[in-house]
Amino acid sequence: MTILVTGGAGFIGSNFVIDWLRQCDEPVVTLDALTYAGNLANLSELSGDARHRFVRGSIGDAPLVDRVLRQNTVRAVVNFAAESHVDRSISGPAPFFETNVMGTLSLLEAVRAYHGTLSGDARAEFRLLHVSTDEVYGTLAPDEAAFAESNPYRPNSPYAASKAASDHLVRAYHETYGLPVLVTNCSNNYGPFQFPEKLIPLVINNALAGKPLPIYGDGRQVRDWLHVADHCTAIRRVLEAASPGATYNIGGDNQMPNIEVVRMICALLDARHPRGDGKSYAGQITFVTDRPGHDRRYAIDARRIAAELGWRPAVRFAEGLAATVDWYLDNRSWVADVTSGAYRDWIARQYG
Ligand code: NAD
Ligand code: TYD
Repeated sequence: MTILVTGGAGFIGSNFVIDWLRQCDEPVVTLDALTYAGNLANLSELSGDARHRFVRGSIGDAPLVDRVLRQNTVRAVVNFAAESHVDRSISGPAPFFETNVMGTLSLLEAVRAYHGTLSGDARAEFRLLHVSTDEVYGTLAPDEAAFAESNPYRPNSPYAASKAASDHLVRAYHETYGLPVLVTNCSNNYGPFQFPEKLIPLVINNALAGKPLPIYGDGRQVRDWLHVADHCTAIRRVLEAASPGATYNIGGDNQMPNIEVVRMICALLDARHPRGDGKSYAGQITFVTDRPGHDRRYAIDARRIAAELGWRPAVRFAEGLAATVDWYLDNRSWVADVTSGAYRDWIARQYG
């Protein structure tokens, strides 16, 4: 048997593929369009590994997905493929709807057709796990209870709206066609291989380059940070144990205001890679215009996955963040490789 991982050359997908093949010998086919956010370098440790096959292509290419499913006798699909950056969705929403909504629809159609050809145990055990975000729930006031699976969807950014739409499609394919789907809604991830447009790697990268560390608005927005390794463990657990149609929220039980996260990164860098002038990287912190529609607070109530599947986060934030800073210090050539001309254009447009 084989699993198909879509978007497996991106940040979370590549961590998932590498972790999967460390834990077991079940082969993986990675399907990835290799957009600006997808990098084969993330999977370089698997080159020459017979258990892994890479196919370049889009989830929106139904004949290709169909071929991959049939040729590999796929028993589960884990869908990470998406446009994933909120700021990009604000400056140009269309690709988010093309990939996250129409791409997911096309993937669902291909998977439904394939599932229809299966019988017996193969049909009963097949799963499509759709990886989603807590951002579909909108924003929380400081004293509001964390997002539970029963919270209504109230997406505020084009990114969140496109992910919400994809979640609804996945749900509808379960209700209407009986497709054995699973949905996970996770909070902000951090760790190795995260593209340096997202807060944590952007701040590390800018700090080392002597550039401003841009804090949107007052920097008091709260995110519930989870190490990517914990997210991978949760997805694996949901895939092996959850009932079709189930949804699970995944979070780190670790709410932090952005400004505190950035100060922690500066302190870690001060200790590990001091600035030449002896001053703190915190001096590079620069408050900039807030993101439009900026969600104030995310927090995950992860009691369902804990109670039903026994999953809990294992990585403490202080340790996970220190390890992440070390990874970026040790992998500056990775950053240099992935930050192409297109990346530099984005940074110039977004931060002037
Ligand atoms: P990412 O942007 O790093 O990676 C996305 C990957 O999808 C890239 O490799 C890209 O090339 C690929 N891709 C894009 N369009 C594609 C298409 N049409 N067909 C095939 N591949 C395509 O994103 P990420 O941070 O790794 O997020 C992965 C998934 O997890 C996304 O669905 C995202 O919504 C979700 N998620 C992310 C976070 C987070 O904090 N990063 C949190 C919760 C959920
Ligand atoms: P981000 O990593 O883009 O994730 P998301 O928007 O999906 O939560 O941003 C995390 C938080 O950091 C969010 O509140 C926006 C803020 N942020 C900044 O303050 N400055 C930046 O340059 C970036 C990229 C994000």
